[in-house]
Amino acid sequence: MARPEKHVFVCTQNRPQGHPRGSCMSSGCGAVMNEFMSQIQSRNLFEKIALTTTGCLGPCGVGPSVLVYPDGVLYGKLTAADVVTIVEQHLIGGEPVAHLQAPAEVW
Ligand code: FES
Repeated sequence: MARPEKHVFVCTQNRPQGHPRGSCMSSGCGAVMNEFMSQIQSRNLFEKIALTTTGCLGPCGVGPSVLVYPDGVLYGKLTAADVVTIVEQHLIGGEPVAHLQAPAEVW
């Protein structure tokens, strides 16, 4: 396996209903994960982009949370519709999507 150019971590943490921290699972990370997988598959980017589910990344209040390395860019409050922009502008184009990034006070 070649070393990927980008590694995308999608938080899929779940917590019980009513938990004070909430969770990315309850805020829609499943649809975000599915869309990343669909985009990577349809563009045949598996050699360049790794996609991994992960537990809590910390900023649960801005979930669904997605972290991209090696850039250390955290995206928050994503919807499935945001994913194509991240794929085209950041993962392929190399330019992080500023308006989708988590606020500076959490990352
Ligand atoms: S549950 Fe996803 S960042 Fe905490």
